[in-house]
Amino acid sequence: MNELLSGLKGKVILITGGASGIGLAAAEVAAASGAHVICADVAQSQALPSGCEFQALDVTDWGMTQALVEKVLAQHGAIDGLVTSAGISRVGNLQEMTLQEWEQVLQVNLTGTMLSARAVAAYMKQRKQGSIVAVASINGILGNPSNLAYCTSKGAVIQMVRSLAADLGPHGVRINAISPGLIHTPMTAGLDQSPAYNGFVKQHLLHRAGQAHEVGNAVAFLLSDMASFITGTNIPVDGGFSAAKVIEMY
Ligand SMILES: NC(=O)c1ccc[n+]([C@@H]2O[C@H](COP(=O)([O-])OP(=O)(O)OC[C@H]3O[C@@H](n4cnc5c(N)ncnc54)[C@H](O)[C@@H]3O)[C@@H](O)[C@H]2O)c1
Repeated sequence: MNELLSGLKGKVILITGGASGIGLAAAEVAAASGAHVICADVAQSQALPSGCEFQALDVTDWGMTQALVEKVLAQHGAIDGLVTSAGISRVGNLQEMTLQEWEQVLQVNLTGTMLSARAVAAYMKQRKQGSIVAVASINGILGNPSNLAYCTSKGAVIQMVRSLAADLGPHGVRINAISPGLIHTPMTAGLDQSPAYNGFVKQHLLHRAGQAHEVGNAVAFLLSDMASFITGTNIPVDGGFSAAKVIEMY
């Protein structure tokens, strides 16, 4: 049992995109802290840690999202936390990307986040408690020349979190974003083949990419009562990437 986050003991946590990468790592930390975790994903993971179960979900499908929330409530009696980690990336700038790619990224990363929050918040508001953590990105804080749809979607998620914090706060429900830097997950596998990779890593002030569990730890903290007075914020978990641009002039 993770003593620091023992406040998650007995809580029910729903994680979209929970079958892989950051979502799966957050599930591991939450389950190790005593929570029961529902890993909801379009793709089934090979193996889930103890304390976690898989449920099929396409976050762009409102009917499916509502049905899953009802199923979890019927089976487990509560949803104490939601993590929206389902996400996709399509490389392309204004001229290169197709309209279909633009719409697909916004559907999953932005609309999917909103639909999951909408389905769960309806219940959390009635109960006057709950915590939602949206996985955004450093690409939602800073621009990036060849990833237009992704950057736009993540910037919008950060702003959506601020707006929802204002809506949900009076009902006792917290919502925060986290913005990971470069994290080793299936989404970023292969990036190390790029000639720009080492330079990108070096822009993280710790001079390394992060591990998924380092993001999972931050997610679990925000889910827990340890973060009981934190809402509407965006916490970079990025090894300092968004804190400084290092220009070695002297
Ligand atoms: N890895 C990084 O460096 C990094 C950095 C910043 C932000 N992020 C964000 O973190 C989140 C998790 O990414 P990851 O790196 O763990 O990638 P990942 O590909 O390992 O995990 C993403 C998961 O989302 C699922 N998913 C995709 N579309 C879905 C849909 N329509 N419905 C339900 N599930 C869906 C995938 O099946 C996958 O399991 C994403 O939102 C990503 O944008 C990742």
